[in-house]
Amino acid sequence: MAESKSPFAGGPLKTFGRRGGRPLSGRQRVLMDEVLPKLRVPIVAGEALDPCTLFEDASEIWLEIGFGGGEHVSGQAAANPSVGILASEVFFEGIAKLLGQVADAGLENVRIWPEDAREMVDGLAAGSIDRAFILFPDPWPKARHQKRRIIQPDFLDALSRIMKPGGQVRFATDVESYADEALERFLAHPAYAWTARSADDWRIAPTDHIETRYQMKRLGDIEPVYYDFTVSRQS
Ligand SMILES: C[S@@+](CC[C@H](N)C(=O)[O-])C[C@H]1O[C@@H](n2cnc3c(N)ncnc32)[C@H](O)[C@@H]1O
Repeated sequence: MAESKSPFAGGPLKTFGRRGGRPLSGRQRVLMDEVLPKLRVPIVAGEALDPCTLFEDASEIWLEIGFGGGEHVSGQAAANPSVGILASEVFFEGIAKLLGQVADAGLENVRIWPEDAREMVDGLAAGSIDRAFILFPDPWPKARHQKRRIIQPDFLDALSRIMKPGGQVRFATDVESYADEALERFLAHPAYAWTARSADDWRIAPTDHIETRYQMKRLGDIEPVYYDFTVSRQS
């Protein structure tokens, strides 16, 4: 069977599996129908969105790709109320969970892109993001599927375009082959400089890390690694 393609024409391979899961609860359906449209990042094909326009006086703009159950997004948003966070996920249950966390905590600094994160990255203005998080992305462990991993050279190009010079990107995984491959790709890209000075810098969780639901499942084959990069120039 042919590989399924992403929903946008001519786009890259899908980096995710299913979007639907268990049926949503009544509250979750209301959040998806009534709250999500208000929090949706207004990406328009062919236009470059300045994310500062979405938040009143945000000190910084952060981005999270593939937020899963949303704990990291809502935790960071609560801990950093002056920061505006753009969060992307395609899994409906995860989107509904984050909407619930945002409503329960009264968070005003989260906006959601409920589609492929690469569309959002392509639709943001150059140099508009201070920090980006890609935490425990789908590992696609089988060799024939590894081209679906989101850390690809063209994605790193696209991400570096929207990062502010000096901005920070954090990648975390607990899968050895992905840790090796991702580090090799980041290091091969001229825009990214690894900040680690000793092994503890990547094998001990950064003090501002919030453990994620997927991470807690301990499905990988190594202890989690955390790679922080600064983006030295826009490509
Ligand atoms: C393995 S889970 C990890 C979730 C979360 N970061 C955590 O650590 O709990 C990876 C998530 O990335 C999402 N994902 C994969 N590719 C994506 C894409 N291109 N855009 C947005 N989300 C994506 C998947 O739907 C999935 O929920």
